[in-house]
Amino acid sequence: PRARLTVDPDFTIAPVPRRLFGSFVEHMGRCVYTGIYEPGHPKADADGLRTDVLDLVRELGPTVVRYPGGNFVSGYYWEDGVGPKEQRPRRLDRAWRSIETNEFGLGEFARWAKAAGTEAMMAVNLGTRGIQEACDILEYANHPGGTKYSDLRRAHGSAEPFDIKLWCLGNEMDGPWQVGHKTAAEYGRLAAETARAMRLVDPGIELVACGSSNSRMPTFGEWERVVLEETYDQVDYISAHAYYQEHDHAGDFLAAARDMDHFIESVVATADAVRARGKHRKKIDISFDEWNVWYQSRHHESAIAKGESEWEVAPRVIEDEYSITDAVVVGTLLNSLLRHGDRVTVACQAQLVNVIGLLRSEAGGPAWKQSIAHPFEQVRRRATGEILAVQTRSDRYETPRFGDVDLVDASGTWDAEAGVVSLFLANRDQAEAAQVEVGVRGFGELRVQHAAVLAATEGQDRHTTNDEQHPDRVRLRPLDGVTVADGVAQLTLPPLSWAVVQLA
Ligand code: AHR
Repeated sequence: PRARLTVDPDFTIAPVPRRLFGSFVEHMGRCVYTGIYEPGHPKADADGLRTDVLDLVRELGPTVVRYPGGNFVSGYYWEDGVGPKEQRPRRLDRAWRSIETNEFGLGEFARWAKAAGTEAMMAVNLGTRGIQEACDILEYANHPGGTKYSDLRRAHGSAEPFDIKLWCLGNEMDGPWQVGHKTAAEYGRLAAETARAMRLVDPGIELVACGSSNSRMPTFGEWERVVLEETYDQVDYISAHAYYQEHDHAGDFLAAARDMDHFIESVVATADAVRARGKHRKKIDISFDEWNVWYQSRHHESAIAKGESEWEVAPRVIEDEYSITDAVVVGTLLNSLLRHGDRVTVACQAQLVNVIGLLRSEAGGPAWKQSIAHPFEQVRRRATGEILAVQTRSDRYETPRFGDVDLVDASGTWDAEAGVVSLFLANRDQAEAAQVEVGVRGFGELRVQHAAVLAATEGQDRHTTNDEQHPDRVRLRPLDGVTVADGVAQLTLPPLSWAVVQLA
């Protein structure tokens, strides 16, 4: 296929929102236990944090990390996870049919986030609990001292407040699977009143109302409308969650970003309609705080999902092993988020370790990057400055779900200070290389500064993954043959590939 892209420094969308490159740590499976935290591991520090995992997290550089759930939060007693460890109770976690030891909690997470150099984002339980408990945890986290919960934090060894800015008002409350699931009207009222009360505790926080769990929810659209009618003045963001997997048509899966585009544009339209109707001034942004590839159909067949497993501590749950195809899809999802960076200003890939993880780790063993970690890390590092409105004219292919879809998918940024144009490109064609021309006339003279590609190499195919024995099999390699002359960059993307090209 062929594609012609055009970018111009005068055609930008918004500054790159730094919180677009977030991730998520849930008390689920082995994300916390034997993921980020494993006392007794040879690489654990004095607090039990795995320094090998921390090193990889620092390389990925998630700018914000959401915690502690996910479905888990809807039955969570945050108080169980603070104070002397030997006094912390074990509980049944109904969401993931696991035993929660509470050895790791808010204080440990705040310390981990600091060590990882990331911003903490918290969710409160609006499934089984409500306004008071949300205010209590906020007081524990952010109030300087002299009150019950702030003094408790100090007694637990943290004199300084954690100063957590971003708070989610529950999780996926539209989903019948959620403990404490509610109708949009029930949730909207509770979210509005919780938000109002939380702001009285700390006016400096930013609040996220729950949006839809995916774009196929029967309540999609109407949920956002009702929730925002109730909460508009009290919240800053409405959330979106989306997971994609390959079913029986690889072309459909490779076009998943089309669903993400549709999801974002529909929620923006709904939020803006509520804004107009309510004569509100401010705009509501989207916090796309769960997104990834997830082979959910496999999970539905598991003993945990069917309620047939024994109750265990940190069982293996949804430890999907990601392929080259999955990495290309993740690259296109990042493109979709970036293209909508004027309204999607927070996003969290789900999840960080082991559970549909960017990273994998084994108890007592090594940690490594999955294929999908590479596009995530590259875009986080290299998307700086302003988001470019990339004009794309690409050959197309036919998909059952999305109709005609571009074979080449792209996003880009312009960092005027550094003088760097960064392009993030995917070739969805499984058989043919893509010849891509990029018009860059408006930037003056440019040279190729960096070009790398993720694609199958000799002896690999689109299903190749990294694993404990081959932690580096799928990685970025140099993309040769990129040229720039007379204001046009030329490059060839291998079949089914994701690439980053920087011109300066
Ligand atoms: O990330 C896994 C799960 O997916 C989360 O707990 C939930 O919010 C979503 O359904």
